[in-house]
Amino acid sequence: MKQEIKPATGKLGILVVGLGGAVSTTMITGTLAARKGLAKPIGSISQMATMKMEDGQEKLIKDIVPLTDLNNVVFGGWDIFPDNVFDAAVYADVLKAKDLLAVKDELEVIKPMTAAFDHNWAKRLNGTHVKPIENRWDMMEALRKDIRDFKVANNCERVAVLWAASTEIYIPMSDEHMSLDALEAAMKSDNKDVISPSMCYAYAAIAEGAPFIMGAPNLCVDIPAMWEFSKKMDVPIAGKDFKSGQTLMKTVLAPMFKTRMLGVSGWFSTNILGNRDGEVLDDPDNFKTKEVSKLSVIDNIFEPEKYPDLYGDVYHKVRINYYPPRKDNKEAWDNIDIFGWMGYPMEIKVNFLCRDSILAAPIALDLVLFCDLALRAHMSGIQTWLSFFCKSPMHEFNQEPVHDLFIQWRMVKETLRNMIGEKSPSYLD
Ligand SMILES: NC(=O)c1ccc[n+]([C@@H]2O[C@H](COP(=O)([O-])OP(=O)(O)OC[C@H]3O[C@@H](n4cnc5c(N)ncnc54)[C@H](O)[C@@H]3O)[C@@H](O)[C@H]2O)c1
Repeated sequence: MKQEIKPATGKLGILVVGLGGAVSTTMITGTLAARKGLAKPIGSISQMATMKMEDGQEKLIKDIVPLTDLNNVVFGGWDIFPDNVFDAAVYADVLKAKDLLAVKDELEVIKPMTAAFDHNWAKRLNGTHVKPIENRWDMMEALRKDIRDFKVANNCERVAVLWAASTEIYIPMSDEHMSLDALEAAMKSDNKDVISPSMCYAYAAIAEGAPFIMGAPNLCVDIPAMWEFSKKMDVPIAGKDFKSGQTLMKTVLAPMFKTRMLGVSGWFSTNILGNRDGEVLDDPDNFKTKEVSKLSVIDNIFEPEKYPDLYGDVYHKVRINYYPPRKDNKEAWDNIDIFGWMGYPMEIKVNFLCRDSILAAPIALDLVLFCDLALRAHMSGIQTWLSFFCKSPMHEFNQEPVHDLFIQWRMVKETLRNMIGEKSPSYLD
């Protein structure tokens, strides 16, 4: 049945936490360049992908569902450094000068609001552009005010909040995260051990009726209290951890091994990267958050309990090494030990020389645009259909995450079809 979707009228404010980061500045520059016709939005599903319709016609997704047009997007956000987006993009050193200069005027006027920050949650960072507020509840209230003020100042009809800031330290889920009442009590009593700054941003966004997207592996909205709050406020939440490079490869290769019934005895993944993200992840507590996110993928796809002979004993290791000379140009190596007929071993080596932010930028944009669509279609809570974009797809306790990229792609298309009341075509698409 066709869902009622409010049209994408007026302006959409995209408020990015970590506005001056590599992913944010690359996403913003590319979006501004695309709407001026200076660059193609390559890698963006919302802008470039097509789908077959019931009648056999192939259409662009953006012509099938009412997505916000890039011309109607306004950017803003927060960072712990005061640089405007142009200066921050120069520092991030992802894009060439000619690409930045082409939209310099627009980038320079996007300036970060002061951040909600706690050094204990990202020990390698020392920013000064920070709200002089210690108490978590007050932090959250100040962020709510920022969102409201931005909306008025920029004449926005809607706002979405995207976390593209540094990965926080690892914390396990605890009693304070289990219900909205418990979470609010912990925020009000300023329990800094269990309430991260990112939770303050997420709570503020949801309270203001704005979708919240978690691009890092932080626990943040991946807790029952936030699921409850987002449903109560009729707001979508999505995440977590952009699936940009090495994990993208894993979620393509692992389903191939499984479909062919080939066994796997080991999978060793290592990376070097030299951007600020790499520096933050060099701290063991911050790396732990990323490691948990990266490790969960292959077990879920292989289903070792169903196929013990093939995947009952996979040795899986993930390493990230901070190596400054590489900057944003990450290099990833995977060594996969597989076995075939009669148990004979084989090896596969993958060497991916990727550009981290070039891969992540369109994912960030797509997550925002699809969450804004979900908001207008009254789809609240976790948006599992957006698992396609995430390394560690959020799911409730009674659900299993889906990691296989091809099943995830199907989920995107089926959800979009359901929204407009279309059936799948009878042939493969
Ligand atoms: N690039 C990728 O391919 C990729 C993939 C998956 C996830 N991620 C995640 O996305 C995030 C951004 O990556 P990046 O390469 O742009 O990192 P980055 O270090 O360049 O940018 C992060 C920005 O966040 C800011 N920041 C940190 N804490 C903040 C806070 N509390 N409030 C406001 N701003 C804050 C930093 O000052 C910095 O400008 C990281 O968490 C990273 O792990 C990136």
